[in-house]
Amino acid sequence: MCGIIGCVGRGDETLDTLVHGLSKLEYRGYDSAGVALSSDHVEICKNSGKIDDLREALSDRTLSGSVGIGHTRWSTHGPPTDANAHPHQDCHGDVAVVHNGIIENYQSLRDELVAAGHTFTSDTDTEVVPHLIEDALEAGSDPEDAVREAISRLEGSYAVAAVVAGCDAVFAARNDSPLVLGLAEDATFLASDVPAFRDFTDQVVYLADGEFARLDADGWTVTDSDGSVVEKDVDTVEWDPEETGKSGYEHYMLKEIHEQPRALRQCLRGRVDELSGTVDIGDLGDLSPTGVQFVACGTSYHAALHGAQLFREAGIPSQAFLASEYATATPPIGDALVVGVTQSGETADTLSALRAARRRGARTLAVTNVVGSTAARECDHALYIRAGPEIGVAATKTFASQLAALNLLALGTSSTGDARQVISALRDLPGHVQEILDESAAQEIAEIYQDADAYFFIGRGYHEPVALEGALKMKEITYKHAEGFAAGELKHGPLALVTENTPVFAIVTGDDERARKTVGNVKEVEARDAPVVAITDGQSDVSRYADHVLELPETHPRAAAVLANIHLQLVSYHTAALLGRNIDKPRNLAKSVTVE
Ligand code: F6R
Repeated sequence: MCGIIGCVGRGDETLDTLVHGLSKLEYRGYDSAGVALSSDHVEICKNSGKIDDLREALSDRTLSGSVGIGHTRWSTHGPPTDANAHPHQDCHGDVAVVHNGIIENYQSLRDELVAAGHTFTSDTDTEVVPHLIEDALEAGSDPEDAVREAISRLEGSYAVAAVVAGCDAVFAARNDSPLVLGLAEDATFLASDVPAFRDFTDQVVYLADGEFARLDADGWTVTDSDGSVVEKDVDTVEWDPEETGKSGYEHYMLKEIHEQPRALRQCLRGRVDELSGTVDIGDLGDLSPTGVQFVACGTSYHAALHGAQLFREAGIPSQAFLASEYATATPPIGDALVVGVTQSGETADTLSALRAARRRGARTLAVTNVVGSTAARECDHALYIRAGPEIGVAATKTFASQLAALNLLALGTSSTGDARQVISALRDLPGHVQEILDESAAQEIAEIYQDADAYFFIGRGYHEPVALEGALKMKEITYKHAEGFAAGELKHGPLALVTENTPVFAIVTGDDERARKTVGNVKEVEARDAPVVAITDGQSDVSRYADHVLELPETHPRAAAVLANIHLQLVSYHTAALLGRNIDKPRNLAKSVTVE
């Protein structure tokens, strides 16, 4: 989704700092970009396309000013044109504004402003903001009050940043859309996400809904909607700037796949005690849920399916819901704990579902990667998955860490007979992931099947969500048809699609009834000449019916699910690489989906 950067105190390097910040926000997905610099006047440069197009446009211009704002836009109101790119300005060009989110009352504001003689040049909802500021300035307000007055008229979700000619400050406000300040010795930054300024500082202040920030030569202040100063905590970001670079990997996705052993270690660190067979998740251990409802989207939904199985296995009624469905048809909650699984903590559908649950009186918990994210702040509790920043649009390491964190949650809040075995499997997980990364035959499989018509993924129990995730990863980065099924469903329709040019990936571990039934499904596929890739620990006889095997170590089925997924991530990655896809920024997708 859209990205915001702002900075004060970078002198002659202001413009370069803004463009650098925007390039660090590219992972959020965007279709246009722009910057504004302010001094005694405001100058802007913006266009549809990529940051490189903006750089080219800037090469013909001299923009001056020592405070500025920048934006990457993901279209919501109006197509991705130069005119619709941010920043937007007032009638005189004295104000520039960038905005993330959706202003729900923009049409009535626009009608009012047009009737009062304002001229609009874009289709965006954002453009009402500079015109509102213009009105307030003309009515005699100083720049800060003018921005405040404009913000007070807005309904909906927004992170807004503004500059005003003749005032060396950046103003910002948020409601339902993230904004964070970065504090360096002689400069202050503002962004929708930390990577935008992480090269300059690790000191951050997260703004809360309804707060207003002023950044100027004297530093920064945060005030509430009444103008009273809010004392904010300054946090230290724990990851270093190198973590947002590619570290020699061709793509962020590949780097992040390889970061999984470390991410898992971080997730587990200090939380499991193998000797006593216990898990320590702090106060969360006292939650004692009698029922659990998970809400999530996309990859996180697949993690939620895993989480729901964990609780059911512990005898606690539990179900995973797609957040977009839950928000509009909240099922009876009773005294269930409602858990939002969201890597970013900013996914609009998931936030809506969590808010719906809160309105119904539920206790809520965010399982998220982003400290200070909206989900983390709005929920009663947060469990951090500690995966580190994920830049590739396709979720990889955060999925593995979500599964691990959900196992900790289930172990820490309920009791299962095999806690010791699970804890020992979790302890072995980072090492097992490393073995798969070192030895997986995924690239060969990708080479053999890169031209397949479609890809199918099947699994039972803990392997069903992995089958769904394998298919999602394949379709989002290769743009090829892929579907995942509970293995038993194959014969209820999808088998009609199976041909000799549709490889079927079957995840089979152990040799229990589930495994044997999945082997039966594999035989049905084989009888229809489809190539079979078995992802297996070799305990069942699935390999006899498979054309290829991706090997797994013997471990607990919960951990095996994480491991099987590593092979599938690699198959999708290598297939996409062979097909020359834009792996880190697949078409039509955004990293953080902040609209419903
Ligand atoms: C797929 C992917 C998306 C996200 C979904 C939820 O690779 O990244 O399906 O999983 O948009 O995002 P979060 O977890 O941030 O709520």
